Amino acid sequence: MMDLMTDNKVHDESRQGEAYAPFANDPNQYKKKFYIESYGCQMNFSDSEIVASILNSAGYGATRDMEEADLVLLNTCSIREKAEQTIRKRLTEFRKAKMRKPGMLVGVLGCMAERLKANLLEEEKLVDMVVGPDAYRTLPGLIVEAEGGQKSVNVLLSRDETYADISPVRLESNGVSAFISIMRGCNNMCSFCVVPFTRGRERSRDAQSIVAEAQDLFDRGFREVTLLGQNVDSYYFVDEKSNETVSFANLMERVALISPDLRVRFSTSHPKDITDEVLHVMAKYENICNYIHLPVQSGNTRVLQLMNRTYTREWYMKKVDRIKEIIPDCGISSDIIAGFCSETEEEHQDTLSIMDYSQYDYSYMFFYSERPGTLAARRYKDDVPEDVKKRRLQEIVDKQYYLSLDSNKRDVGRTYKVLIEGESKKDANAWMGRNSQNKVIVFAKEQYDLKKGDYINVTVTDCTKGTLLAVIEK
Ligand code: SAH
Ligand code: SF4
Ligand code: F3S
Repeated sequence: MMDLMTDNKVHDESRQGEAYAPFANDPNQYKKKFYIESYGCQMNFSDSEIVASILNSAGYGATRDMEEADLVLLNTCSIREKAEQTIRKRLTEFRKAKMRKPGMLVGVLGCMAERLKANLLEEEKLVDMVVGPDAYRTLPGLIVEAEGGQKSVNVLLSRDETYADISPVRLESNGVSAFISIMRGCNNMCSFCVVPFTRGRERSRDAQSIVAEAQDLFDRGFREVTLLGQNVDSYYFVDEKSNETVSFANLMERVALISPDLRVRFSTSHPKDITDEVLHVMAKYENICNYIHLPVQSGNTRVLQLMNRTYTREWYMKKVDRIKEIIPDCGISSDIIAGFCSETEEEHQDTLSIMDYSQYDYSYMFFYSERPGTLAARRYKDDVPEDVKKRRLQEIVDKQYYLSLDSNKRDVGRTYKVLIEGESKKDANAWMGRNSQNKVIVFAKEQYDLKKGDYINVTVTDCTKGTLLAVIEK
C-alpha cells in the first residue's frame, strides 16, 4: 500500500502518484502473461485488481516484467493534464518494447481511455485496445479481436456495473490492508472535475457482496479494509429480496461487526454528505478508524460556488466542529486546489485560513488544471497566471508543512494502538504501522515476537513531518 502520510506534498500527477507493477501471481499456471501499471486514485488501483481477476479467468497470469508480457496494460488517470502527460510518456516507452516483441498487445484502460475513446488509437499508433472503466468484463473478447489484428474499443459506461461478483486478485498486497470498492461513478458535477465524465453515473454495489468480501479478507488474515468510492457517504443500496435499504452508516456497521480485529476505513467523503449518523457509527465502533478525508478544495464561498461544491466556508467549518465534537481525536485530511478560475489574493487567503481552522493532519494539494468538457472549462476562463497559481500552491504547501509538523508534535507522549503493516523501509529492526488516525508510526521491534497484522500499543517519543517515532508500551 502506498505511504499516504509521507505523501504530504504537491501532487502534480495524481493522488497516489506512482505507478506500480504487480507481483507475478504464480505465472506458470497461465499460458500467457499480462503486465499492468496503474495511475490515479485508489479506485483505479482497485479496478486493476478486478482486471487481474478477469484476465486470470481468460488464461493470463500477472508478471512484473514488461519484457516477458504478451499483453501490456496501462490503467490511466485524466484528473489533471500532467497525469495524462505522464501516461503519454510511458506509452512512448512501450513503443520500444513492442518493437522488440512485435506480437505484444498494448491496451489503455481507465479514465483516459474513457475520455479520449477511439481518438487514442489515432493519436497513439501502438495502442491495440481502448477500454473504459465499465467495460472490463469484455476484455477477453477484445483481446481475441486484437490478436486477430483488429484494434478494439469499448468505452460504454454503465448504470449498473459494479463488478460485485468478481473476486479481486490482490496484486501489490502487504497481506494486511485491502481496498474494497463499494460504489462507482459520481453524480456531483464539481465544475473542475473530469470524473463524472470518465466514470459515469453513481451506483452502489450490493451490500451483501461487500460484507462477504470483507469477511473473506479477514479469514485470509487481512486486518484492515478501506471502503472505496468517489463519494462514499452517498452509498445507498436497496436489497430487492428483503426490500431493506442500506445506507453508508449501515454498511460500515455491518463491516465493523465482522470482527473487532478488522479495522475499517473509507475514502472519500464529500463534506456535504457526511452525516451525524456516519459520525456516530464511527464513534461507536473502536475498529472504525477515527480518520476522515474531507476535501475542502477552497476556503472561499464564492470560489466554492463556482466549483459547484454546494457548501459555504461557514458550513464546512461547522462540519469540522461537528466531527471534533462527536469524535474528538479524529484525524482530518483534505484536498486543495490553488488558483481556480478568477480566484483573487483575498480568496486565496481564505483557503490558507480555513486550513488553520481545520488543522489538517495532511493534504493533497494541486494547482488548477483545466479539463476539456468540464463545466469550468465551458463556463469560466482559466485566468490565474501559472506563476501565480504556483506561488499560491507553494503557500498552501508551506502552511500544510507546519500544520502536519504541529499535529505530529502534539502526538509526542501519547499512546496509540498500531496495526503492524510490515517492516520499516529504512530499518529492518523496526516495524511500521498506522494508528487509527492514519498516521504512520515506526518503532523498534525489540525482543517481542510480533508479526505483520498484529496490534500493539506504542508511545510516541519523537516525530518528523510525515512519521511518528515510538517505543512499544511496557
Ligand atoms: N471524489 C473525490 C475526489 C477525486 S479527485 C472527492 O470529491 O473528494 C481528487 C482531487 O483532485 C480532488 O479532490 C481535487 O482536489 C483534485 N482535482 C480534481 N480535478 C482537478 C483539476 N481539474 N485541477 C486540479 N485538481 C483537481
Ligand atoms: Fe469529482 Fe466532485 Fe465527484 Fe469528487 S465529488 S469525483 S471532485 S465531481
Ligand atoms: Fe484519475 Fe479517474 Fe481516479 S481521473 S483520480 S483515475 S477516477
